[in-house]
Amino acid sequence: MAIKRSSQEDKPPRKKNTSSVNQANQKQNLLSAKLTATETENNEEGIRPHKLADYIGQKELKQILNIAIAAAKGRQEPLDHLLLYGPPGLGKTTMSLILASEMEVNCKITAAPALERPRDITGLLIGLKPGDILFIDEIHRLNRMAEELLYPAMEDYRLDITMGKGQSAKIRSIKLPPFTLVGATTKVGSLTSPLRDRFGLIQRLRFYEVDELTLIVQRTAAILQVAVTDNGAAEIARRSRGTPRIANRLLKRVRDYAQVKKIPTIDQSLAGEALDLFNVDQRGLDWTDRLVLTTTIEQFGGGPVGLEAIAAATGEDAKTIEEVYEPYLLQIGYLNRTHRGRIVTKAAYEHLGKTKL
Ligand code: ADE
Repeated sequence: MAIKRSSQEDKPPRKKNTSSVNQANQKQNLLSAKLTATETENNEEGIRPHKLADYIGQKELKQILNIAIAAAKGRQEPLDHLLLYGPPGLGKTTMSLILASEMEVNCKITAAPALERPRDITGLLIGLKPGDILFIDEIHRLNRMAEELLYPAMEDYRLDITMGKGQSAKIRSIKLPPFTLVGATTKVGSLTSPLRDRFGLIQRLRFYEVDELTLIVQRTAAILQVAVTDNGAAEIARRSRGTPRIANRLLKRVRDYAQVKKIPTIDQSLAGEALDLFNVDQRGLDWTDRLVLTTTIEQFGGGPVGLEAIAAATGEDAKTIEEVYEPYLLQIGYLNRTHRGRIVTKAAYEHLGKTKL
């Protein structure tokens, strides 16, 4: 499988070329480079599983995808378009890369905010090879033009390009190879229904159980050649907010701590000590989670209070609170969302050592 993100495969043309497709490709290269940089920072690449069999958790989703892969392979067709939704860090990109690997095709990765102009998306679609996967992250943020280009592309593998303007405008149709669109979103409700309806499979990724995250920590530790006891891995897992990306990030922070303290094996007490230092508490709440909860308690009597009011009082972006922080607080029952606003629960008061006035 080739992952089309680095500039290796999409090298910018040496000669100056002003055709729109090439310009689109050049822009794509910039985006690719950016994604690669982010990935290098997070260094997720080396620790991602490449096969469905190595992917821990999401049992139901794996079963569904195994069937879809076997059926598509049997018919020698690309996979159906797939929409993956759920909170960040649960493995949407990883799953798309796994599908490409299982289907032995390329995976081109992009995100909706990078597809501003029509030629951004046409450039990507034109470059696809039969069976390829096009992964669009944050797909709920696609603009109307990009969406409308995707409709015939998804339905009939056809790209309708408007040439010229006004009354003399003509539509030219270009045949595309059969391909699979994998869309990822944290906000499935924000997708327009025509776009949502064009996905053959719509699947949610769930938060992971502690035992699943423990296995993920152990797997990553083995790849990074870090010694960790079962209880040490479980301690990291418990504080990872049900999220593999966080589990792997915390493992790396604990590894740094152990290295500096010259302790060869990460056990439960070392993991706890390191994570306390990094301000990740026993339920995995970080500084911002606690700020959201304590502000709601101290300034709004625990709610009900609107999201915008919480954002203003904490200085955090409302979207970030809604998409990054709230899902886990709702999942563990520390926050309730009602039509009158957010309410901090008794369990959260207890966790924070606060009493309701
Ligand atoms: N690394 C990150 N997510 C993973 C998962 N679900 N399974 C195995 N390794 C992972």
